[in-house]
Amino acid sequence: MSGNGFEFFGLSGPHPPSWLPKPRAPFFIYNAAILRQNAADLRRMWPASHNRHTHLFYSVKANPNPHLVEEIAGFVDGFDVSSFVELEMLRRMRISEDRITASGPGKTDAFLELACSLPVRAVHLDSSEEYQALKKYLRPMSPQPRITLRLQLPGPQMRKLGIPTEEIRELLRTAPSRTFSGFHAYLGRELFSEERLSTTLATMYSLRDEFPMAFAAQFEIYLGPGIPAFTVAPQQLSMTSNSPVHIECGRSLIGTAGCYAAPVLSVKSFNTRRRIVIIDGGLQHLGSPLVSHLLGQKGVLCHALRERRESTAAGDELCPTVVHGSLCLWHDALHPSLMLPRDLKRGDWLAFAPCGSYGLTAAVSQFISQTPAREYFHDSSSTKPFTSPREISPATFQSYALSFSDRGKHAK
Ligand SMILES: Cc1ncc(COP(=O)(O)O)c(C=O)c1O
Repeated sequence: MSGNGFEFFGLSGPHPPSWLPKPRAPFFIYNAAILRQNAADLRRMWPASHNRHTHLFYSVKANPNPHLVEEIAGFVDGFDVSSFVELEMLRRMRISEDRITASGPGKTDAFLELACSLPVRAVHLDSSEEYQALKKYLRPMSPQPRITLRLQLPGPQMRKLGIPTEEIRELLRTAPSRTFSGFHAYLGRELFSEERLSTTLATMYSLRDEFPMAFAAQFEIYLGPGIPAFTVAPQQLSMTSNSPVHIECGRSLIGTAGCYAAPVLSVKSFNTRRRIVIIDGGLQHLGSPLVSHLLGQKGVLCHALRERRESTAAGDELCPTVVHGSLCLWHDALHPSLMLPRDLKRGDWLAFAPCGSYGLTAAVSQFISQTPAREYFHDSSSTKPFTSPREISPATFQSYALSFSDRGKHAK
């Protein structure tokens, strides 16, 4: 991104553009050109020369808006889903089942049954119990999903995900021959490193060599890389694998393609050094504060758009500001320290980026029923002139509604 980083969202000027929602409402806007660029960068990052195949998958949980999923379907090889509803949504969108994998530590019977009945390309097992549950739905005479085993990686944050190595050995020793197609591992959340990647690949290959009979002829590797949303194009990784590798990208594909903006509700100044701004938005639209424990403020952009048209002495002066959301929750603190115009007032707007991933559907959306966020999509690759974006708000599509209307039916 050039300029102040908001050109691709039509929000780089000093004042709010005319297409902003009326009456004022918080919103997300996504840019297709950034999405496509991120996909190209991610493909370049994984050295195709070393792999017979590198497949780019999109992890739907990062942002399941079907308009975005439809757009993304044009340039990725497949999708990873984590629930019955995500899978049902892709089925209704007629995404071919061979382009879908099923992952996650909380698979219900209904999810496993649907994954087997389609069947999807692969199911990534997260526990031995899940394997027992899955067996009920595998139909011996029909096409079946590939089955991979998710490795549990070291570290306290990783214990929820995957199967401990000793349990994996037990499964590989006891399952009928050729039951499994390979392994899966989630390398992130912001803990991604080349070292983590190469030690994980080494573990996968050594388990395969220890139990060759447990695996199908075509051994495959699936990785949730957990790469932080980029602000610059990544370096190519040095890695070797002679098996097909599927990378399921979430935040690294869609994070920087989205921006979030919300109107200012109040400005509370305590003294010249301390000021709090409360916006009509917050954790009801975002899965987490903008500043992460691991990455700090790295890459977080904020831009103020002011309603006031005439210039004032305070107009260009900046002032340290804490930004809070509008929920009555102590942790609804979006940013601890931003330099924002001193003359900021109720009715102005703050825009934040990157905010394309883990937004609306990762948020505490029902708490105190504050203003819902709208969603917009801009599909021109040029930033000038910025034509009005297309609205893709939840009310106009079925995926979020699906999770409510079908509730119960899939809670087997
Ligand atoms: C199985 C799996 N694949 C892919 C992802 C996507 O991760 P990220 O958004 O960090 O790229 C996740 C995230 O939790 C995951 O659990």
